[in-house]
Amino acid sequence: PRLWAVIPAAGSGARFGAALPKQYLKLADKTVIEHSISKLLMHSDIAAIAVALHPDDHFFSSLSCANDSRVLRVDGGSERAHSVANALAALEKAADSDWVLVHDAARPCVSNRDIKRLIELGCAHSVGAILASPVVDTVKRSTALGEIAETVDRKDIWRALTPQLFRYGDLRDALRFCHDQQLLVTDEASALEHCGRQPLLVEGSPRNIKITYPDDLAIAEVFLRGEEQ
Ligand code: C5P
Repeated sequence: PRLWAVIPAAGSGARFGAALPKQYLKLADKTVIEHSISKLLMHSDIAAIAVALHPDDHFFSSLSCANDSRVLRVDGGSERAHSVANALAALEKAADSDWVLVHDAARPCVSNRDIKRLIELGCAHSVGAILASPVVDTVKRSTALGEIAETVDRKDIWRALTPQLFRYGDLRDALRFCHDQQLLVTDEASALEHCGRQPLLVEGSPRNIKITYPDDLAIAEVFLRGEEQ
């Protein structure tokens, strides 16, 4: 089976509060999304990368990676799951049994080592796998009034990161099922979970942060600098 990749990058970045969508902000020598795409391009076994963008996006075409023969531009949707579904549909040559990596445009600090480990362990698993990191804080569940209902045992709690790796056909069908049933899907694994599947958790570096707030850019810059050594 072949390996493909999808980068959802059609979000507005409303929480970040910048005029520019957050994936186009400069981080060290290039934009956030260029870092994320180049991390995937380094893996020569990835046949093509479908990047889901807002239909009115006029920033992407000026990036050098937009001209890479393995990079394909696709219109995203109103929700992340729609963007991923559109990108999957654009990978016309993918077979159902092929594997697909889905990676947030907003996670520029993922390491090559983690991507390699995910591919190795995920492709050996019947469902696939995601990068994840154990929760270090004590976790509370709240009541409707904002009071503490309970403390959740953090022993089994992980933060879901990306990339996430699944069989092309399984992911397409799971996203379609969740769309039809109006189920909440905030990452690709949750779509598979709704279908009764149990993807593997592969522990990845907590440096693989999602750029969400302005402070995250400075933190990401420190992490990227550390990578080069
Ligand atoms: O909003 P959040 O940070 O969770 O977005 C995660 C990723 O999903 C981002 O890279 C964002 O651009 C993408 N996204 C998308 N289509 C949407 C919403 C978010 O591709 N409609």
